[in-house]
Amino acid sequence: MADRNTATGPGQPDDGGAAQVLVDLHDVTRTVLLADDEELHILRGVTLRISAGDHLAIVGRSGCGKSTLLNLLGLLDVPTSGSLDFFGRPVGSMSSNARARLRGATVGFVFQQFNLLPGRTALENVAMPLLYAKGRDFWRRNELAMDMLDRVGLASRAGTAQHMLSGGEQQRVAIARALVRRPRLILADEPTGALDVATGQSVMELLEGVAEESGAALVTITHDPNVASRARTQYALQEGALGPAVQLAQVGA
Ligand SMILES: Nc1ncnc2c1ncn2[C@@H]1O[C@H](COP(=O)(O)OP(=O)(O)OP(=O)(O)O)[C@@H](O)[C@H]1O
Ligand SMILES: [Mg+2]
Repeated sequence: MADRNTATGPGQPDDGGAAQVLVDLHDVTRTVLLADDEELHILRGVTLRISAGDHLAIVGRSGCGKSTLLNLLGLLDVPTSGSLDFFGRPVGSMSSNARARLRGATVGFVFQQFNLLPGRTALENVAMPLLYAKGRDFWRRNELAMDMLDRVGLASRAGTAQHMLSGGEQQRVAIARALVRRPRLILADEPTGALDVATGQSVMELLEGVAEESGAALVTITHDPNVASRARTQYALQEGALGPAVQLAQVGA
């Protein structure tokens, strides 16, 4: 087990034989204040460690906090209490700019609502993360984006504007965008939700394949037991607590 305090930066392998710990959550809570001053306790003491090469699935009923947890894993939010170390660094001590930079360099996020840039083409959307890359990746951004669009079966739609794409096509563009920078941590929120079974299967194969090629960790949120069962480890969120998903059917996945 890796030392929680070992600061191994993004892209730097652990010096030991163990897989690098990418995200380490300990007793994490997330509470939001509602309009009527009521507190909503979305996550209640989540402890989870994600290492390079892991593939885990998270299931749970709608509204149980899955996206909230994914936002924490991807540095889009910070815990209300508890600790979250990202590549060995506590997020509590990072500025929001530092978190954004780290997120851009290490995380590929497939958003539940896709979040594509409106008015931009499929190619522009996929190339977008590479605008923040350096050197070769920056200069080759259109070629790399085209290659990834091809891998999701959308090369012929490269010049199509976001609003002209179907829901399933937008989802695949969002997946290509998440993978184009070869992130160390791939976070996919319902990545097959808008896809037919066959396309969903090929998208999962792509996510798993790219994760394996780059030694990345893959975290998949899903309601589909077939998608969940592809993961090496399955967790269920129930009433804000994370536990092993022994019987997927019982948590309404
Ligand atoms: N910023 C916020 N303010 C108020 N309520 C919030 C906020 N963020 C999340 N919630 C509430 O917390 C609960 C969990 O939301 P979350 O989006 O994490 O659920 P989920 O498990 O991803 O659901 P689904 O499967 O439908 O996507 C929901 O009831 C949601 O309305
Ligand atoms: Mg959600």
